Amino acid sequence: MTAGHMEQDRVAGDPHRVLTAFRAHCGTEPVLVRSPGRVNLIGEHTDHNLGFVLPAAIDKAIFLAMALRDDRKLNFHALDTGGSYTGSLDAIHPVASQWPNYLLGILLEFQQLGFELPGVDCVFGGNVPIGCGLSSSAALEGGFAFGLNRMLDLGLGRVDLAKLAQRSENRFVGVNCGIMDQFASLLGRRKRLIRLDCRDLSFEYVPFEREDLRIVLCDTRVRRSLTGSEYNTRRAECEEGVALLRQQAPGIESLRDVSGAFLEAHRTLLRPVVYRRCAYVVAENQRVLDACAALARGDMAAFGAAMNGSHAGLARGFEVSCPELDRLAEAAQTLPGVLGARMMGAGFGGCTINLVEAEHLEAFQARMGLVYRDQLRTEPAIHVCRLRGGTELIGPDTEAC
Ligand code: GLA
Repeated sequence: MTAGHMEQDRVAGDPHRVLTAFRAHCGTEPVLVRSPGRVNLIGEHTDHNLGFVLPAAIDKAIFLAMALRDDRKLNFHALDTGGSYTGSLDAIHPVASQWPNYLLGILLEFQQLGFELPGVDCVFGGNVPIGCGLSSSAALEGGFAFGLNRMLDLGLGRVDLAKLAQRSENRFVGVNCGIMDQFASLLGRRKRLIRLDCRDLSFEYVPFEREDLRIVLCDTRVRRSLTGSEYNTRRAECEEGVALLRQQAPGIESLRDVSGAFLEAHRTLLRPVVYRRCAYVVAENQRVLDACAALARGDMAAFGAAMNGSHAGLARGFEVSCPELDRLAEAAQTLPGVLGARMMGAGFGGCTINLVEAEHLEAFQARMGLVYRDQLRTEPAIHVCRLRGGTELIGPDTEAC
């Protein structure tokens, strides 16, 4: 990352800027919440199939300044895009400019749990790039839910908040996402990955403190609006597979319950496309378990190989990659000091995640810079990230941040 990039990130992510804007817009004293973006080392599209994932919260975050009102009005302001929303708690419905829906859906979910809410003022901004696969939307949803829960003393725990935020995205925003993003943003810990079982939400913090390795994101700069609709299609294809396989073994509730051998034995029951989706998910679940075992024994070469395998499966089996993601991942995989590289998140754009030996970082950035210019015909967008804690209250007193 260049000094210029770092300066830009620091300023854009500055919580004081959000606080100052809130005071200017609303004239009251807010609480301030930091809500991070997330990476995922391995386990893509396994969460909505009740499998395993290995995400972490990172040092890019959205800051939300929030205050309760004594009427039923809602005033939201998105600092980075300059958009505003004004409405009322009595008329919550989805709006065309997507971002207010991330907040409105959360309010509705709290109401549906029976909580009486007052109006809210909220100003937010940060440095989680939008649409780049770092889950800026989950950070916004989780941060807003966390702030309301604290201000109103509603007593919900972080896992409950993650579930609430996921429901809001499913029911109000209309993307049938799994729970990984909201969970990682709310429950992340410094220098820790989260090995999460998306079936029963049991989880374990896995130390990831290696100073000799860097987690590096290469942003394709491709933002595709088809992500939401394709996401829902993939999910429906997996459900179609489960419904057919369940006829053979009634105990099957999700692809988590399907072994590779069982899937092969019943392959002819499935449409080829459904078979490909299911085979990817079954293999990816196993890759997460293998990668965790490799990490535990310090075998980072095996961990990286699992990441590379994940990319191949996402590109050819689940078919959610795109030419830019393939170029960046495949080029990175050939470079010295790169243990693993793969597309990250829902797909069709956004970032690759690369595990790079620290001593090779500079050369990696230089070589990937050439790939960006020669093959993607765009300027490089490469970010080194650190694993940080999950959503937290950092103000009124912002000296702490
Ligand atoms: C998006 C969704 C997550 C997860 C990933 C793919 O980020 O929000 O729930 O399914 O895609 O792993």
